[in-house]
Parts: sequence; C-alpha cells; structure tokens
Amino acid sequence: MTDWRAQLTVPRAPFIPQVVWVDDPATGDFRAVSRNDDEPRWQALVDVDEPIVTQVDDGATAPGDAGRQPSSSCSQPSLVAAMLTTLDVHAGHRVLEIGAGTGWNAALLSARTGAAGHVVSVEVDPAVAEGARRALAEIGATPSVVTGDGTRGYAPDAPYDRVVCTASVRAIPRAWLEQTRPGGVILAPWGTDYGSDALTRLVVDEAGGASGRCGRGLSFMRIRQQRRDFLEPSRSAMATAATSQTTRRGRELFEMVAFAEAAFTIGLRVPSCYLTVEDLDADHRRIELHDVRSASWARVGLVRGADPWTVHQLGPRRLWDEVDAAYAWWCAAGRPTPDRYGLTVTPAGDHEVWIDIPEDARRWALPAERPGPGR
Ligand SMILES: C[S@@+](CC[C@H](N)C(=O)[O-])C[C@H]1O[C@@H](n2cnc3c(N)ncnc32)[C@H](O)[C@@H]1O
Repeated sequence: MTDWRAQLTVPRAPFIPQVVWVDDPATGDFRAVSRNDDEPRWQALVDVDEPIVTQVDDGATAPGDAGRQPSSSCSQPSLVAAMLTTLDVHAGHRVLEIGAGTGWNAALLSARTGAAGHVVSVEVDPAVAEGARRALAEIGATPSVVTGDGTRGYAPDAPYDRVVCTASVRAIPRAWLEQTRPGGVILAPWGTDYGSDALTRLVVDEAGGASGRCGRGLSFMRIRQQRRDFLEPSRSAMATAATSQTTRRGRELFEMVAFAEAAFTIGLRVPSCYLTVEDLDADHRRIELHDVRSASWARVGLVRGADPWTVHQLGPRRLWDEVDAAYAWWCAAGRPTPDRYGLTVTPAGDHEVWIDIPEDARRWALPAERPGPGR
C-alpha cells in the first residue's frame, strides 16, 4: 500500500496560523501556543500526524484566555490523505469543498485537479476564510474560498464532479445533490447525534438522488448549524429523576458506546440522542444521553465491579430505555458493524439506511432533519 504521506503533495506548515490551540487534560480547556513565543512546540504540532486546533469558540476567545470548544482545525494528515484517496479526484475535475479551514485540503485538491480543473471551498467563518485565502495566495494556489454556509453548496460554480465536506453532518443537504453531476461523488463524515460519524461516500444518480456506503469511523467537528448540545440537570431536577437499575453487564455497556460495535446502529435507531461518556477516574464512568429538544436526559453511573448500576432518567423521553431497546435490536440483527451500512438520499432529501444492500429487509427511513440548537 502507498504511504499516505505520498498523497500530501503540498506542505502543511504554510497553512497553520501563528497561534494554535492545544487541550489541557487537567482542565479540559484549550490553551494557545504561539509560534512567536514557542517555535519548537508549534513546529512539533505541525509535524505530528494529529489534527491541530486553529480556532476555538468561533474566534471569541483571545489567546491569553482558556478556550472551551474547537471551532476550526487542520485535520489529521493521514486522514486527509485517506479522504483524498476515497474521493478519487482527477485532473480536470470541478470540486466543491465545505469547510475551507486553513485551506490546506483545498490546496491538495487543486494540486490534483490541475489547471484544467476548479476547486471552490466554502467556509462559514469570515476570519478563517480570510486566513485560508491568504495562505493559498502565498503558495500560489488557485482555489477560490467563498465565505458562506456550505450546507447551501455554491451554485455559481456547479455542477461539480466531487463534493467533499470536512466537517461532519447529520444530514446530506439537498443543495449538494442538486449541484453534483450524475455519477459525481459526495464524501462526508456523516452520522447521528449518538457517537462518532462514518466516512460516507455517495454517488449521485440521474434522478438527482444519491446512494453509497458508510466507512471508517471519524470524529470531525460538526458543521456549525448542526452542533450537538447537552443538558446539565440541576440537583433539584436530578432529585425528581426516575431511577432504576440496568440489567446490562460491563461488556454490553462498552458495546453500547463503541462506534465499531453497537453505537452507530443505536444512533440510527434512536433519533436526537446525544451520547457523552466521561471517565471520572479509573473506576468511575458516566454515560449520559441528552435530547435538548424535548429536555430529556439520562445517566448511567458505572462503578467498576459494583453492578448492577443505577440509571436516572428525566423528561418526556426515556432515553436509556430507547437506547437499551436499540442495543437489543442490534444483537438480534446479527451485530452489524458500521461498514455494513449504506445510505440512500432521495432527490427530495429523505434519508434511508440499509444493511449490506439497498434491497435488504432491514432498511428504514431516518426522521427529517430539524435545525439543531447550534450552540
Ligand atoms: C475540520 S475544519 C476543516 C479543515 C480544512 N479542510 C483544512 O484543510 O484545514 C472544519 C471547518 O468547517 C467550517 N464550517 C463549519 N460549519 C460550516 C458551514 N456551514 N459552512 C462552511 N464551513 C463550515 C469550520 O468553520 C471549520 O473551519
């Protein structure tokens, strides 16, 4: 197999801003690392095969302060290479990227399409878009960077041979289908609110729908309009929670939160359910489920070697019971792994998932996308 580094024909360093952010495991916050103050550390971050956070809190946090949430990054190089390979870009292709970020991937795409092709990258954050434009101009790369909401695609340069999203989505926007030529490819980290996303590759058909398969698991940042959100019930609300004991063993609870096991399936069967897992120490783990829309919440508190564990559930939905039933379905369905799933999107934008083949009896429609809280 070709070394993934050979795919990366444009250097990464010219695209990395002078200030980047690293997480502080002690606090969970992000702290700025400035190239001016600590060049060796900055360079080490650029050289390693890891993502680099290049903006936090939509740019609202100053470098001296603690950042809470990454909002732009330069993706992990080996993953960038894998996505380029899966996207299969050729000379002369017209490519739409959603999420310009630093502009590095746009430069890599443009090196593949060559002068006969065209790359346009849409970035929602004006300051990030400006940084990408500057970095691309400095190395003489020609992609255009448009400031805007990439879920609308970019109609003026359509149709595209390839559409690639470098943020994750819960639904494939209709604009992407409409702006891709028949036979063209849409590649996106796609998934539900529950757990990681799957790298999903769809081929657009003559009717304007698209179909394809889910692949490896990914943890990309969400597109701005579809961010997940969580609930933190107060002590007094907690006191009113319905309480029960889970009958599940440790191994089963592990499978329920692991992408490669049941988590991807559970997300497809339990809509609007955001999963968080927090390891408090070596012996204590908290699994929480959140649906901010209906103000429903559940927690299982695990203590090593002390099962059965207590379940707390609040709100109109009994999220833990829904997840437990979806886990039972996954076991009965032969424990399908994420790579066995496929996704079909109709021209009207309806999403249907299936296992192994589109005609499989185990296929179902996903609920229509509703705008998220977008925190
Ligand atoms: C992981 S970064 C992209 C990495 C980038 N391709 C690179 O080469 O550095 C995701 C980017 O998506 C952007 N983004 C989020 N929501 C968006 C939207 N609706 N439209 C366009 N860009 C969006 C974020 O601001 C962020 O810069």
